[in-house]
Amino acid sequence: MKQLSHAATAVACANIAFIKYWGQHDSQLTLPTNGSISMNLDGCLTETTVQCLPEAVDDSVWLALSGGEEVQAKGRQFERVIQQIERLRQLAGVTERVEVRSRNNFPSDAGIASSAAAFAALTRAAASAFRLELDEAELSRLTRLSGSGSACRSIPAGFVEWYNDGTHAGSYAAQIAPPEHWNLVDIVAVISTEAKHVASTSGHSVATTSPYFSVRLEGIEQRLADVRQGILERDIERLGRASEADAMSMHVIAMTAQPSTMYWLPGTLAVMQAVQRWRAQDNLQSYWTIDAGPNVHVICEAKDAPEVEARLCELDAVQWTIVNGAGPEARLVG
Ligand code: PMV
Repeated sequence: MKQLSHAATAVACANIAFIKYWGQHDSQLTLPTNGSISMNLDGCLTETTVQCLPEAVDDSVWLALSGGEEVQAKGRQFERVIQQIERLRQLAGVTERVEVRSRNNFPSDAGIASSAAAFAALTRAAASAFRLELDEAELSRLTRLSGSGSACRSIPAGFVEWYNDGTHAGSYAAQIAPPEHWNLVDIVAVISTEAKHVASTSGHSVATTSPYFSVRLEGIEQRLADVRQGILERDIERLGRASEADAMSMHVIAMTAQPSTMYWLPGTLAVMQAVQRWRAQDNLQSYWTIDAGPNVHVICEAKDAPEVEARLCELDAVQWTIVNGAGPEARLVG
């Protein structure tokens, strides 16, 4: 076995899906039922260091809290990180224990999908610490296997599509357009900071029990095409309408699956309705999308972002906002 004493630090962005990953056809390999498209969020970053420790007997994982204080990960959280480390260790043919240190630059209680940024940064850093030479597609596939499937979309830069042909080899994310292609902005309207009550993993596993799941899939190729073209042509209306339709479809599946889950709060609906009212009354081109939680991501072009943000902050339902442009790839910083 090789003996290593090496450390690597990587930074990765969270991402917001315009076409959602919701439902799996293989939970072991984290293969999705449908392809999805997202944008990396340049304001929501995770930085992770993987340090190889040739003398250590155990792995350890440390997570920084908002105040900077570090806590040791335990239970399921620890196991998920170490399962991914083990996958990369086996690939590299090494046995050394590691110390993992991770911190977010955004509040981890803001309902942003922090696991995507976390597993992308972890996989990028560990690959380098174990001296694995992997291309972007292979890194993305490995990140997907972490179980946080959407994390594979945080590997490439900018606007990204996660391809799905039902196989391990064909299920990886690639860039549609680089971040500088379009000054698109995602303003996260934080409605509630409570942890989500149903994890996305459970949502994926019961999605097919919804009688509307096949209806969602019937429309998915057209919505994927609209979002792809919307991005390539910088057409906010085409992108926005397809994104809203897809988010609504995902939430219909969640609400009508067995057991059913309602992720929205009254404040969620207030923001959705306000955004649609601003479009109808003032032609303010902003569109909403929502992940597996109550917070609303409002998408608009940079020229409209100050106006959209000011209006969001006036709503009683909105606690605060986080403004993001299109972000870079998961990258090594040390
Ligand atoms: O990657 P997961 O298992 O956390 O699932 C992500 C699910 C959504 O965020 C709701 C949709 C998506 O494509 O990001």
